[in-house]
Amino acid sequence: MENRIIQITDTSMRDGEQTPGVRLGVQQKVEFARQLERLGVDVIEAGFPASSPGDFQAVQSVAQTVSACTVQALCRAMRGDIDTALLALRDAKKPCIHIFLASSPLHLQYKLKITEEEALAAVADTVAYAKKFCPCVQFSPEDATRSDFDFLCRMIETALSAGADVINIPDTVGYTTPEEFSDLIRRLHDQIPALSNAIVSVHCHDDLGLAVANSLAAVGAGAARVECTVNGLGERAGNAALEEIVMALHVRKDILHACTNVNTRELVRTSRMAASLTAVAVPPGKSIVGQNAFSHESGIHQHGVLSNRETYEIMRPADIGLDKNTLILGKLSGRHAFTQRLEQLGYALDDKGIDAAFHRFKEIADKKTAVTDEDIGAIVNEYLDGLHGKYWLDSFQIQSGNHMKSMALLSLRDGDEVFTEAAPGDGPINAAFNAIDRIAGRDDIVLESYSIRAVTEGTDALGEARVKISAAGTSFSGRGVSTDIIKASIKAYINAVNKCVAAQAEEG
Ligand code: KIV
Ligand code: ZN
Repeated sequence: MENRIIQITDTSMRDGEQTPGVRLGVQQKVEFARQLERLGVDVIEAGFPASSPGDFQAVQSVAQTVSACTVQALCRAMRGDIDTALLALRDAKKPCIHIFLASSPLHLQYKLKITEEEALAAVADTVAYAKKFCPCVQFSPEDATRSDFDFLCRMIETALSAGADVINIPDTVGYTTPEEFSDLIRRLHDQIPALSNAIVSVHCHDDLGLAVANSLAAVGAGAARVECTVNGLGERAGNAALEEIVMALHVRKDILHACTNVNTRELVRTSRMAASLTAVAVPPGKSIVGQNAFSHESGIHQHGVLSNRETYEIMRPADIGLDKNTLILGKLSGRHAFTQRLEQLGYALDDKGIDAAFHRFKEIADKKTAVTDEDIGAIVNEYLDGLHGKYWLDSFQIQSGNHMKSMALLSLRDGDEVFTEAAPGDGPINAAFNAIDRIAGRDDIVLESYSIRAVTEGTDALGEARVKISAAGTSFSGRGVSTDIIKASIKAYINAVNKCVAAQAEEG
């Protein structure tokens, strides 16, 4: 029996970006899109252009960068959203408009407050409208798995009659089970003959830990495409994990009779880049890409693997790209070795970017014995995230102690000018943030969250600080890295303030 090719849509930059606390900048999305193209996914869902100017710009930049994959943009069933998405996708070689509208009674009644007939009219209107301007239109009946079957069929038929090329069935709240979902996909095929002319895609969430199982069950029932995210990123418990879907199809082609166009040897690199860009760490026990996925602790297992690795390994580490022997970089490493490592990690910075990242690498290598791949990822991300900043850290001094109020004296550069302010605070970090507020002339910024993590282990570990601030009802995140956690925190706060200043300047 010949294997079917199952297409993969990566929605890490859209649904994955809905992971709490995750926000990717334009340059970060461009870097990640390049890696997804190298990975060989069929479709990249790059964002929701009508949701913010930043997302519009990101979709536009990804559309200008990627040529092999379809670039997809999400829209509500509104002509305005479609106009915005069409503009963002103007330069895409293979654009696709993805329209969604809820089909479940719960969503129609309580969220959208519209009748079934109004929903069908919106689907007919917006799908036909998008189809006039875009060669590919995908339609998703949101919350499909909690919808009335007859109404779900009517909605899908409406989308198909209006010209939809792809019908994507989402299990929006991760509610279904493998048997039920495969049954749904089969019944839809039986009930809607026109579905055989469309691509049937599925989109599963992991609230019950069944997203991958449900997606595979749907493939077994005839689905031709799976939407998923790298590392299972996504809202709440996340989406179906791309690497798990791909490797399950790869390893069990004997029974699933399906494979993908994905180059599995790029999986580890993609996973690590996603973890670095989002600062959402991969749990050690995570299937396929977790740190422990190929380690054997017990003596019996070790003995077995040494005799024949197939005793306890169902795939080779090399199959997912884990065979690379990498040199450790340190303070004596030159620009050439550094550039080569950037390429190995999947980053394609221009000369200016390499210069900036190499400069930071040298600063860090001076303080740290070995600079790891995780450190390099953090350096690159800090650079990508802060590319267009107004303020830059010039210097800081902080006095702090257990019997005194902390005091920060801090200078920021804005072009050729340097501005200095002093401010007190509850602790050194709060004092530094207050000094930055003073320089930026802001008393409206609220610090919503602050966290610091060690990028790697050891006393000389690089610290990565992340902050979330809000001003005038909008949130902005920032990140900074340094071997000094106060400096990392200051840089993260400046990064967030810069984004806030830039967004407000854009709004005029
Ligand atoms: O989970 C969901 O229903 C979605 C749709 C927009 C496809 O993400
Ligand atoms: Zn979703």
